[in-house]
Amino acid sequence: MSKIIISIDGYSSCGKSSTAKQVAEKLGYQYIDTGAMYRAVTLYFLQNHISLSNPREVAGALEKIEIEFRPNKEGKSDTFLNGLNVEAEIRKLYVADQVSEVAAIGEVRRAMVKQQQRMGRRKGFVLDGRDIGTVVFPDAELKIFMNADPLVRARRRQEELMEKGELIDFDDILENIRKRDIIDTTRAESPLRQAPDAYELDTTYMTLDEQVERVVLLADSVISLQLSASPDHDQKADG
Ligand code: DC
Repeated sequence: MSKIIISIDGYSSCGKSSTAKQVAEKLGYQYIDTGAMYRAVTLYFLQNHISLSNPREVAGALEKIEIEFRPNKEGKSDTFLNGLNVEAEIRKLYVADQVSEVAAIGEVRRAMVKQQQRMGRRKGFVLDGRDIGTVVFPDAELKIFMNADPLVRARRRQEELMEKGELIDFDDILENIRKRDIIDTTRAESPLRQAPDAYELDTTYMTLDEQVERVVLLADSVISLQLSASPDHDQKADG
């Protein structure tokens, strides 16, 4: 069975990670949440009072950071920072508030991209982020670029946080989303861009099931195209 790499990039809170997780599950692929990696770095920087404007401090801190994904009891993947489960902590708003600034630092991006390329060097991966189809895996066989109305994204984010017991004002969430959009798209180091060969998916009026179905359908067609183009397939057809 031919395996591919699927990149899902786009703005925050468009449903990238929920879609990516379910697509990976349906295809039997592994999921890598690259945003979680930037969040884990941010948490480390906050806990250790690293000055973002001091390149030596940043480089020294990056050397001490080890990020892993380990499956939990529910079969989902949790983020570990230096051996500690930080999955819940990295989703909090105080981390979200700083993460775009941390993710804009070139040194941080280079370290994360290297790690992501190492993790996904075999095929059979779904990665979500901002630069997967443009920088991390520019040769990914299927690239998705997600977008949605900021008001819808803020409402989804608020519901997500509420499920975790965090009651946050809608306007604060909307402001956080707008601020992150600006930083993510205007930063000098690999800004958020749609790859020319990416499929655009506007999820404003889509349910999660519809998003998953669309990506799985696209993946199926890419995989069948690959299979029909492979030399093995020709041999079978000839024989
Ligand atoms: O997907 P997320 O909201 O968890 O991402 C958190 C932040 O990390 C987001 O503001 C942008 C940044 N990010 C990035 O710059 N590149 C990635 N590949 C993934 C996330």
